[in-house]
Amino acid sequence: MFKNILKFVALLSLSSVCFVNADSPLINEKAAENVSLEYTKDGVLRKEDQCFINFVNFGIKNDIVNISVKKENNKDGSFNLRIGELKNGNEGLNNYKTGYRFTDDEIKDYVKIKQNNVEIKDFSVASVVDGKFSLLIKNLKTCDGLSVKQAYKTEALMATYLYYSNVSPLDINHAFDIAEFGPSSNNVPYDIIHWDMNTGLDRVREQCRIYIDYNRREQTGGNHWVWYLSTDNINGEKCNNTAFYKAAKSSYIDYEQMDELFGDYYEGYVIKREGSENGHMDGILVNQKYLIEIYQDGCSEQNKDQVICTISSNKKLSYEEFQKEFVDNCLDVIVDQKEKAEWSVNASNITAKFSQYSINIENYNRGSLPKCETESVSYKEFKAAESSGIARFTINMSCGEGTFIGDKCRCSACPVNCASCLDGNTCSKCNKGFITNEEGTCEPITTIKPITTNTTTTIEETIEPTVIIEEAVTDIKDKETTEEESSLNSDEEEEKEEAEEVTPVEEVEEIDSADENIDENVNEDIIEDEKSTELDENKETKEEINSTTIRHITKTVTVPVTKKPKKTIRKCRVKLHY
Ligand SMILES: *[C@@H]1O[C@H](CO)[C@@H](O)[C@H](O)[C@H]1NC(C)=O
Ligand SMILES: *[C@@H]1O[C@H](CO)[C@@H](O)[C@H](O)[C@H]1NC(C)=O
Ligand SMILES: *[C@@H]1O[C@H](CO)[C@@H](O)[C@H](O)[C@H]1NC(C)=O
Ligand SMILES: *[C@@H]1O[C@H](CO)[C@@H](O)[C@H](O)[C@H]1NC(C)=O
Ligand SMILES: *[C@@H]1O[C@H](CO)[C@@H](O)[C@H](O)[C@H]1NC(C)=O
Ligand SMILES: *[C@@H]1O[C@H](CO)[C@@H](O)[C@H](O)[C@H]1NC(C)=O
Ligand SMILES: *[C@@H]1O[C@H](CO)[C@@H](O)[C@H](O)[C@H]1NC(C)=O
Ligand SMILES: *[C@@H]1O[C@H](CO)[C@@H](O)[C@H](O)[C@H]1NC(C)=O
Repeated sequence: MFKNILKFVALLSLSSVCFVNADSPLINEKAAENVSLEYTKDGVLRKEDQCFINFVNFGIKNDIVNISVKKENNKDGSFNLRIGELKNGNEGLNNYKTGYRFTDDEIKDYVKIKQNNVEIKDFSVASVVDGKFSLLIKNLKTCDGLSVKQAYKTEALMATYLYYSNVSPLDINHAFDIAEFGPSSNNVPYDIIHWDMNTGLDRVREQCRIYIDYNRREQTGGNHWVWYLSTDNINGEKCNNTAFYKAAKSSYIDYEQMDELFGDYYEGYVIKREGSENGHMDGILVNQKYLIEIYQDGCSEQNKDQVICTISSNKKLSYEEFQKEFVDNCLDVIVDQKEKAEWSVNASNITAKFSQYSINIENYNRGSLPKCETESVSYKEFKAAESSGIARFTINMSCGEGTFIGDKCRCSACPVNCASCLDGNTCSKCNKGFITNEEGTCEPITTIKPITTNTTTTIEETIEPTVIIEEAVTDIKDKETTEEESSLNSDEEEEKEEAEEVTPVEEVEEIDSADENIDENVNEDIIEDEKSTELDENKETKEEINSTTIRHITKTVTVPVTKKPKKTIRKCRVKLHY
């Protein structure tokens, strides 16, 4: 269907906008003859006897050699230039399903033609075939100083991974097996971040003479070009990976989570667009030998395969060092880093009790926690020379009185004078001497007493709206309860199964594909879990709460049920890694 629309658009632009006849040759078979390339900080200079043209962001090697350039002389001594076989890097730059669309009639907006730094606007996009397009530039007097640059409509989305063996491979630009990558080798990336293609490609070109390399065109899950960017792409300045990544990294516009996870220790060695999902970046851990990944279980926003913090080091951590590093690094869950926790360790888990909440830390599926105070963390080590050891633990939070599991699955304080709450705005039970008001906050009970005197009129007024609202509440409940009950059962079963499979962990030498099967169900489970806990809370509160507060409960029921799962889906989308 979409394909047809594209064709239609292409036809439209051919007939109305352009002056080109349909048989305009896209491919000049002799184009490659007598062509040489020069890789400069300005782009790839394609030299042939007719014309020298600087191409920017159209690839390297054959991408550029295969471009066809054809001069057509006009009567007045000027000439028209037809340039064909240009790869449209905007086509399917991101996942087809996530809403990004690039139509052929937009191409012209993202091609910048300059002659000796003066922009030429009088050109047309002549034809679009198989993700490639042609240009027609009219009435040129000379080819001198001609430059054709491709710009990108949007940032490229990059899922981030870590290559556990910690040496960037010798031959980078191809697909690798996900089993060698983290986090957790199950295709849930550390994060998905936005890379500004326009500044990013400029920077690596200007600083390293590294250029985007278009490989092949993929047609599964929407058409797009497969491309790579790494030190393997010409690299005229012989940049090492550190220099390459320094140039590339500055174009990520939302790198915060990666910074929080790795500080300066992460170094991407390739940025690429391969399969039908978004692009991704693989990197290594620099100057660090050991890595602990912390996951979080039993929390609404968090997929259990999402890393919430990492602890890297050059030595294996003792129990005491682990405690310190955990508090220093896991800012997602530690509310006040200065608060001293009461730590305890035994063969099965480590707990940290804070005054308002406690954290239970357990083995996940690589390495293991110290089993007593004198033991160290044990890491699964990799065989490669620079390889680091890796351990994975999972935590479970218990939030105390007056707190709730809020942002980033951290215990957060309820509103003032509130004993228990559903979220940061809505109190379900106030402290002694306080009562909830219409805003869901708590106010002293004394202000309410005078109102409970005998005035029949006010009582009637408050009752009427209540009836309607209660109906709304039951309505929502009815829809959800059946789902909820069945999902609770299956969740329990799954938890047991997973626990059994996870225990014999340390023996696993290769990271296996069995992981993947389990994890595919994760998203749905989380969402259902979330619904059920929220509904439970609502039931409780509804029983003990009077008419005035019910209005508020309805608000909080609808908000989380519709909004939160969306968030989970975005964060927890499983990325295929080729
Ligand atoms: C390439 O150059 C050679 C020698 O200069 C010439 O004989 C040949 O015709 C050229 N080929 C084309 C396609 O221009
Ligand atoms: C370049 O053109 C040649 C000959 O037409 C073809 O074999 C080759 O696959 C092309 N390369 C690219 C990268 O398109
Ligand atoms: C990488 O290159 C930078 C200079 O650009 C240099 O300071 C650094 O030591 C190099 N790193 C390695 C690992 O060679
Ligand atoms: C291990 O420690 C936890 C938390 O302190 C405790 O609940 C549990 O009973 C202990 N288990 C054993 C086997 O000692
Ligand atoms: C710690 O492990 C023990 C088993 O030894 C388990 O019974 C207990 O529930 C765990 N503690 C927590 C807080 O989960
Ligand atoms: C996490 O904690 C909650 C409540 O504290 C508990 O119900 C749940 O079983 C725990 N999950 C795991 C995996 O220990
Ligand atoms: C409320 O009404 C009751 C009987 O209907 C009466 O005994 C009582 O005095 C009234 N209270 C006030 C504060 O008017
Ligand atoms: C509070 O709710 C209870 C139970 O629904 C009800 O019996 C009682 O009359 C209510 N009190 C007021 C003041 O509305």
